[in-house]
Amino acid sequence: MTDTLIDIQNLEIAFGSGQVRAVRGVSFQLGQEKLGIVGESGSGKSTVGRAIMKLLPPTAKVSAERMRFRDVDLMKADERTMMTVRGRRIGLILQDPKYSLNPVMRIGEQIAETYRFHHPKVSKAKTDSQALDMLEAVQIHDPERVARLYPHEISGGMGQRVMIAMMLIAEPEVLIADEPTSALDVTVRLEILALLDELVARRNLGLIFISHDLNLIRHFCDRVLIMYAGRVVEVLEARDLDKARHPYTQGLLASLPTIEDPPARLPILKRDPAWLDDLALERPR
Ligand SMILES: Nc1ncnc2c1ncn2[C@@H]1O[C@H](COP(=O)(O)OP(=O)(O)O)[C@@H](O)[C@H]1O
Ligand SMILES: [Mg+2]
Repeated sequence: MTDTLIDIQNLEIAFGSGQVRAVRGVSFQLGQEKLGIVGESGSGKSTVGRAIMKLLPPTAKVSAERMRFRDVDLMKADERTMMTVRGRRIGLILQDPKYSLNPVMRIGEQIAETYRFHHPKVSKAKTDSQALDMLEAVQIHDPERVARLYPHEISGGMGQRVMIAMMLIAEPEVLIADEPTSALDVTVRLEILALLDELVARRNLGLIFISHDLNLIRHFCDRVLIMYAGRVVEVLEARDLDKARHPYTQGLLASLPTIEDPPARLPILKRDPAWLDDLALERPR
């Protein structure tokens, strides 16, 4: 059994004056594992990720019986505490690295600056060589050349590697990746997944991998949390997905195309999401 890194019990998040209940009673724990959160657009996945980072807008009303990251009580943590958590102990990778990189600064300088931020006493020479090492660690083959480029000169896949490199400098304990490969071509996507997989294993990280793509999640993650309309409807080991009991999960699985048997029509849930509440299913812990 690995350490519990994140422990969430009965998380509720509403926006505005409560009309939008984006997250409804979500509970889960994250260990040193790859935990997938899957669900259609609007099911509350990103909101859960942002709640852990305390990056929700002020209009969000958050309550929980428990929301902890190791020694940090995230319900009570103030901005000062969160400054020691965000980007340092929990790294966030988003879909489009373009918006996270500084457009007027060369890649190498950005990585060096991040390194200096986390290791202020280190010499310039050491910082520059660390920047190149980080690029190598994320399997960029010609780090000297790439270090001299500006963000607009690199591809999406390369940008995502750079973001991962910058995040690793702080040696985080948890990574939250929100649709990190959704904007990438299939082959590049597989390379980024392989990289994440290796880093998570080598550094004993806990990874929350958010995606709308069940096929990707089931192959990449150890465990899968299925969200629908703000709720966790099922939590399964990825290898047990075929044993899914919830109709929404079964619907998701049935709508995955297979080479042998492409579905003629996508299955749809015919009733209101509230109906799901009445299902006599074991509630995931
Ligand atoms: N800042 C916000 N203000 C109001 N509603 C929001 C805000 N962010 C998210 N929501 C709503 O919360 C719900 C869940 O959104 P989100 O977590 O982004 O879903 P997902 O990531 O699964 O696509 C949606 O109904 C969305 O419209
Ligand atoms: Mg999202």
